[in-house]
Amino acid sequence: MNKLIIRCIVASSLCLSPLLTIANTIKIGVAGPLSGPYAAFGEQLWNGASLAAQDINNQGGINGDKIELIKADDACEPKQAVSIAHRLINNDNVSAVIGHFCSSSTLPASQIYANENVVMITPASTNPSITERGFQTIFRICGRDDQQGTVAADYMFNHLKVKQVAVIHDKDTYGKGLADAMKAQIEKLGSKVVLYEGLTRGEKNFNAIVTKIKDSKAEAVYFGGLHTEAGPFVRQLREQGVNVPFVSGDGIVSVDFVTEAGGPKIVKGVFMTFGADPRNFPEGKNVIDAFRKNKIEPEGYTLYAYASLQAIAEAMKQTHSQDGKKIADWLHHNPVKTVMGDKAWDEKGDLKKADYVMYEWDDKGQYQQVKN
Ligand code: ALA
Repeated sequence: MNKLIIRCIVASSLCLSPLLTIANTIKIGVAGPLSGPYAAFGEQLWNGASLAAQDINNQGGINGDKIELIKADDACEPKQAVSIAHRLINNDNVSAVIGHFCSSSTLPASQIYANENVVMITPASTNPSITERGFQTIFRICGRDDQQGTVAADYMFNHLKVKQVAVIHDKDTYGKGLADAMKAQIEKLGSKVVLYEGLTRGEKNFNAIVTKIKDSKAEAVYFGGLHTEAGPFVRQLREQGVNVPFVSGDGIVSVDFVTEAGGPKIVKGVFMTFGADPRNFPEGKNVIDAFRKNKIEPEGYTLYAYASLQAIAEAMKQTHSQDGKKIADWLHHNPVKTVMGDKAWDEKGDLKKADYVMYEWDDKGQYQQVKN
């Protein structure tokens, strides 16, 4: 039993209850865009981590200690991400962090966690540089954009037979990085990039770029960015008669993409790379049922956030520690059973196995894996 509690019991029974709560709580931060245009993604992270915390606590917690999640809203803004990273460490005293979502937030925030030896697992940030800086306590439970971009390029070249492609990105760390990775691979395969342009996040009128795409004679449009821009962009392409395949990545993996585009009819046929859908894994059946019972569809990164907390909890349980270095060392050397199957990490903090596949949005506003 914790020394603090013993002292408290001896001193006075009055102080027992509040101190018991403090002594038996392990605080874990959940950081992502909980407000603003990307809040749908923050909600996925929060929903996933919340149910995981509830389930782990109901099953006895971490060696008897209960998890308390601390919400941290970065709004997908790098400066805000830095400030909440400091807050999570210095004010909230978290023992680990699940997050962030946007690579441009995760990059600077992870520097702060790494300096303090705090374990961070991002469920969703795919930019390669996050795990290329040699930080021992920084992990991701998703793939990387050099893997995702390659899968997209291979599909476009081999299945869609695209020889001329327009590559558009949102000038952000994730969107541009992903577009560049796809571009490098498709050029290697022999296709020509006939247009390469950046648009600005927050823009809603893409007429100028649509006209350029028309003139370019591109046989497909590849977009690196998030659903907030992808939605209106694809709608304006279709409205102006550009009906070539539209291909993007995990930045559009939310039903909000359908809303932003103006309905299922517009997004029908849009292609998207994302990890193998964890909703189809038998390991997750009970958890998926529980989400649906609560009227939450565990789409996109929801189960990734659930699995992130499972990994952190298992590492703390096995090491009997909340020490970031010890937990990180354990995670680098041991696989974890999660709601998404077994996950194992390499020395960089990347998954040993990434599982990107191609999806297509249908006329019901759902995404289905493409059968090759
Ligand atoms: N994969 C996206 C990013 O890294 C969400 O920003």
